[in-house]
Amino acid sequence: MTNPFCLAGKRALVTGAGSGIGRATALQMAELGAELIVTDIDADTAAETAATIGGSASAHAHDVSKAEDWARVYHATGGALDILVNNAGVMMSKPFREAPIANLHRQQAINVDSLYLGMQGALPLMRAAVAAGGETASIVNISSVYGMVGGAQFAAYSATKGAVRGLSRAVAFELAKEGIRVNTVLPGPVGTNLGADWDAPTDADGNPIPPEAALAAWSSLIPMGRLGEPRDIAPLVAFLASDAARFITGAEFVADGGYTAA
Ligand SMILES: NC(=O)c1ccc[n+]([C@@H]2O[C@H](COP(=O)([O-])OP(=O)(O)OC[C@H]3O[C@@H](n4cnc5c(N)ncnc54)[C@H](O)[C@@H]3O)[C@@H](O)[C@H]2O)c1
Repeated sequence: MTNPFCLAGKRALVTGAGSGIGRATALQMAELGAELIVTDIDADTAAETAATIGGSASAHAHDVSKAEDWARVYHATGGALDILVNNAGVMMSKPFREAPIANLHRQQAINVDSLYLGMQGALPLMRAAVAAGGETASIVNISSVYGMVGGAQFAAYSATKGAVRGLSRAVAFELAKEGIRVNTVLPGPVGTNLGADWDAPTDADGNPIPPEAALAAWSSLIPMGRLGEPRDIAPLVAFLASDAARFITGAEFVADGGYTAA
């Protein structure tokens, strides 16, 4: 009997795959047999991920907020596409009362416009994959628990991650009959480079909070007592990409150590 979790024979494109959740997902899917197309705005880190995978994995410089970049990547890779993981994203931290609208627009472009462009561009390639005998084609969009609950200083980020959920459900509904599935993953706090460029957190008196104390404070909010790791998220994405999830579309999956369970 065929193993439905196996990704052999499938071509997968993962955005933002030079780091964190995207890199772990690309490695996980390659491990399960997929042929990987690895993209990132940072060409060097994308190349590192592809080199780690080896074999036929290819790396591409790709700004997901730009239509011309999507067109170039799809043109360069050609052929049928079974799996698209819209993972690339940014999280900008700023109190709502002082965050300029440009803060929202930048996150909207990278976190939401990217999905719109990427999913539209993928349609002919995914139709080709289904026509070639694939059970279904699969799109997995990475939202966040901040698309469900609020977080201080993350108003614009939360708005974009909520938009990911609505967009994903609507597109799933529209494409279901074509055999193109669209699902959403909502990670809780995961230790990655996301936010590495933020100012150091401060206490109420403006004194810097040491990184270990900040980490302990974050971890204490999570019932499982720790931040997530990229490898806590990657297998869920790989499952949704596989034929094991062939009847699952328009659905949302939280992986957060219990953060939103209360
Ligand atoms: N880390 C978390 O706590 C967490 C929680 C929930 C959701 N997420 C989501 O997971 C996804 C991956 O984030 P991560 O935590 O692995 O962060 P990360 O910073 O480690 O990885 C993000 C990757 O996206 C790339 N990127 C940034 N802007 C891009 C652009 N315009 N075009 C293409 N690539 C671009 C970066 O170069 C980086 O390699 C994001 O969508 C993020 O919002 C993360």
